[in-house]
Amino acid sequence: MRSFVLPVFLLLLGSAFRSAARESTQPPPGAVVVKPGTNVAGEFSDLGAAVDSLPADNTSQVVFVYPGLYTGQVNISRAGPVTIMGYTENAFDYSQNTVTLVHNASLATGALSDDLTGTLRVLSNNVSLYNLNVRNDFGVASTNGQAIALSGQADHLGVYACGLFSYQDTLYTNVGNHVFLKSYIEGAVDFIFGRHSIAYFEGNTIASKGAGCITASGRELNDTGMYVFNENTVIAAPDAFANVTGNVFLGRPWGDWARVIFKNTNVLAPMNKTIWSIWDPGDDRTDFILFGEYDSFGPGVAGADRANFSTVLTGAQAAQYTLVDAIPDYREWVDGEYLL
Ligand SMILES: *[C@@H]1O[C@H](CO)[C@@H](O)[C@H](O)[C@H]1NC(C)=O
Ligand SMILES: *[C@@H]1O[C@H](CO)[C@@H](O)[C@H](O)[C@H]1NC(C)=O
Ligand SMILES: *[C@@H]1O[C@H](CO)[C@@H](O)[C@H](O)[C@H]1NC(C)=O
Ligand SMILES: *[C@@H]1O[C@H](CO)[C@@H](O)[C@H](O)[C@H]1NC(C)=O
Ligand SMILES: *[C@@H]1O[C@H](CO)[C@@H](O)[C@H](O)[C@H]1NC(C)=O
Ligand SMILES: *[C@@H]1O[C@H](CO)[C@@H](O)[C@H](O)[C@H]1NC(C)=O
Ligand SMILES: *[C@@H]1O[C@H](CO)[C@@H](O)[C@H](O)[C@H]1NC(C)=O
Ligand SMILES: *[C@@H]1O[C@H](CO)[C@@H](O)[C@H](O)[C@H]1NC(C)=O
Repeated sequence: MRSFVLPVFLLLLGSAFRSAARESTQPPPGAVVVKPGTNVAGEFSDLGAAVDSLPADNTSQVVFVYPGLYTGQVNISRAGPVTIMGYTENAFDYSQNTVTLVHNASLATGALSDDLTGTLRVLSNNVSLYNLNVRNDFGVASTNGQAIALSGQADHLGVYACGLFSYQDTLYTNVGNHVFLKSYIEGAVDFIFGRHSIAYFEGNTIASKGAGCITASGRELNDTGMYVFNENTVIAAPDAFANVTGNVFLGRPWGDWARVIFKNTNVLAPMNKTIWSIWDPGDDRTDFILFGEYDSFGPGVAGADRANFSTVLTGAQAAQYTLVDAIPDYREWVDGEYLL
């Protein structure tokens, strides 16, 4: 019996401190280590090289990244699960992230697809990202400005306390089931978009940098795809352009069957009064969409005069869009410590 006392005590202690700061300052056993300028054999100074070094098999692998600015595109495409963890003294707070990956690519710089502009491209299942800032620094262009920070093209993608930064198309949540928890997502134009994924967002700060739509759901059929947002905060980015005022929308329909639900949202950004937008004048795409809101609050929605193609959900309707409704197997792969 005696030998059980200590583990049980540690377990209780662990749960008591669950919502307090949690450090992630040491590589877990077996992790591949990334550190700026390292000369240690087996360590990497380049994040992409570390990811490329992982065995092409079904084993689970962890990459631990020490503080620093890392450059270049990173593709994750091996068969087995991959976890990338950034060094942090508070793993629940994106604002204390110390690791940044940056790349600069867009259709205008010659990339052949949205996905190929991505700074971090997730092409295989079971990828978890913790405490990483991922930037596409291309910036603004009047055409071909698509410049993805994170491209999600596979199933079971978990994004925890990360920071995603670009201007147009920051987050491509395209294929598979994805969760984005306690993170920061910044952009101006269609900066959360994709065609087929089921994506669940909770406890994030979503920051508009200029005039444009937060989401552009590209759902084209009556399939399972949807974006569900619960308890997020929408702000104007600290360095937003002046034209952010009056020109932020929760979404516009890239696909005719766009489906986007915002529940319990604290809206601090200076929204357009209509809150939601058509795709383009003369090409509305609103016939089959569901743009739903439940209990939005905050100055951004005071005085709203919502577009007639959007829906204010009843409590009963909103209750159909929970995490378990969207992603029934979430308990098998989502890190529940990041849920509110
Ligand atoms: C991974 O496991 C699956 C199912 O067992 C197998 O079909 C596949 O060949 C394995 N892949 C690699 C790269 O080992
Ligand atoms: C990522 O994949 C794309 C497409 O296969 C390739 O063009 C690019 O060079 C890859 N990037 C790296 C850093 O390996
Ligand atoms: C990886 O993801 C696939 C697809 O969702 C899933 O079937 C599988 O169980 C996952 N594997 C692991 C080891 O988590
Ligand atoms: C990104 O690349 C483009 C063209 O290659 C260049 O004009 C631009 O200055 C770069 N931006 C940054 C932030 O490096
Ligand atoms: C918003 O302002 C920025 C900076 O001046 C500009 O580049 C961008 O094109 C503007 N957006 C719109 C939709 O006018
Ligand atoms: C879309 O699919 C759902 C689930 O299969 C079904 O209940 C619903 O009636 C369909 N909607 C339309 C407009 O066909
Ligand atoms: C709201 O959006 C419409 C359509 O883009 C635009 O014409 C109008 O000027 C916007 N309102 C404000 C206050 O900017
Ligand atoms: C919705 O509003 C638009 C623009 O104000 C108007 O043209 C359209 O007829 C309205 N549609 C419905 C179904 O009321």
